Amino acid sequence: MKTLRLGMIGYGFMGRAHSNAFRKVGNFFDLDHQIVMQAACGRDAAKVGAFAQRWGYATVETDWRKLLAREDIDLVDICAPNDVHLEIAVAAAKAGKMVMCEKPLARDGREGEKMVKAVEQAGVPNMVWYNYRRIPAVTLAKQLIDQGKLGRIFHYRAKFLQDWTINPELPQGGAGLWRLDAKVAGSGVTGDLLAHCIDTALWLNGSIAKVNAMTETFVKERKHNLTGKVEKVGIDDACAFLARFSNGSLATFESTRYARGHKALYTFEINGEHASIAWDLHDLHRLQFFDHKDEGRLRGWRSIHVTDGDHPYMGKWWVPGLAIGYEHSFVHQVADFLEGLATDKPASPTFRDALETQYVCDAVLKSAKTAKWEKVKALK
Ligand SMILES: NC(=O)c1ccc[n+]([C@@H]2O[C@H](COP(=O)([O-])OP(=O)(O)OC[C@H]3O[C@@H](n4cnc5c(N)ncnc54)[C@H](O)[C@@H]3O)[C@@H](O)[C@H]2O)c1
Repeated sequence: MKTLRLGMIGYGFMGRAHSNAFRKVGNFFDLDHQIVMQAACGRDAAKVGAFAQRWGYATVETDWRKLLAREDIDLVDICAPNDVHLEIAVAAAKAGKMVMCEKPLARDGREGEKMVKAVEQAGVPNMVWYNYRRIPAVTLAKQLIDQGKLGRIFHYRAKFLQDWTINPELPQGGAGLWRLDAKVAGSGVTGDLLAHCIDTALWLNGSIAKVNAMTETFVKERKHNLTGKVEKVGIDDACAFLARFSNGSLATFESTRYARGHKALYTFEINGEHASIAWDLHDLHRLQFFDHKDEGRLRGWRSIHVTDGDHPYMGKWWVPGLAIGYEHSFVHQVADFLEGLATDKPASPTFRDALETQYVCDAVLKSAKTAKWEKVKALK
């Protein structure tokens, strides 16, 4: 078995989700590579030290440049905020490391293009963590669409609703709240939440040709945690957009952090000529499926509990009927990345695949400013 020595950058939400995945993947999947938890990197020595101990990393670095200079690191995983993705990924590629990077790939398409160029010039394996693709019910949706079960697709409808920034006293910036700081995040719900919806949509239904968007910033000023001053809020708190896919289907996308009562309500529904499917993150193991070909008297929405051995990924886990959860999507992503290395068929989304989502986000934010339909830049 080949070893793959991991250098993890960031020890927050995603640092934990990914570390869990890297530790577990070899217990459940048959792989050619064994992950070695080689180093964890963060700026606070005490905090990253505690993280390394808890998750079993052998060593610690407090500067990502030192991590990249080490010869005993093969794979770098970027779990830091969006403003540092570009610099770290480009440097990691130049150092010849494989790079996995959290979503969104970057703050905008221009940054994303530099990252794609860097990994492709260096020829290093790369991947972006759009993990929702690898929730078994979502992967099953992909299989059904690819098999033609839906026929021609007419409609795509996606939402990602949260409610955690309604309080105007919530500051922006710094640890935990960098998502409210446009300089760090790049955008608000568009890059943070809609990017997930867009990635899934591109994967399931192909490219998006043009968009027409509106955004709103409900709380215009917030105290900034790093400067201590009240500063203008630059992110979009909410965004809704219409889209036309290249295959002719129509779409609506909506995201907000002001939908009181919703914590992470990611849903999509797809209506085709023969069938429709619907999925809801709050009930992530179920795929709703309506098939017009069913006998008329029995026709209705089926709720498929995606836990059988022949469902995507499920044969690797427990016995039929037993559910897995959110964290398993990350385990599946590592498994697919390693399978891609073994077979020389890179698992998607690569940096280049994820650039397409960035182009859609750019067009959405542009359209919100121009109040016009905007074309999405074509991915080369
Ligand atoms: N795939 C998903 O569903 C998902 C979910 C949440 C976050 N994300 C993405 O993951 C990334 C991290 O988000 P998070 O929620 O884990 O954030 P977080 O705030 O919980 O953690 C960020 C970590 O990065 C570290 N960090 C910041 N600047 C750094 C630097 N210069 N060098 C080294 N470490 C640095 C912080 O100390 C912290 O440990 C973001 O790009 C975010 O968009 C993806």
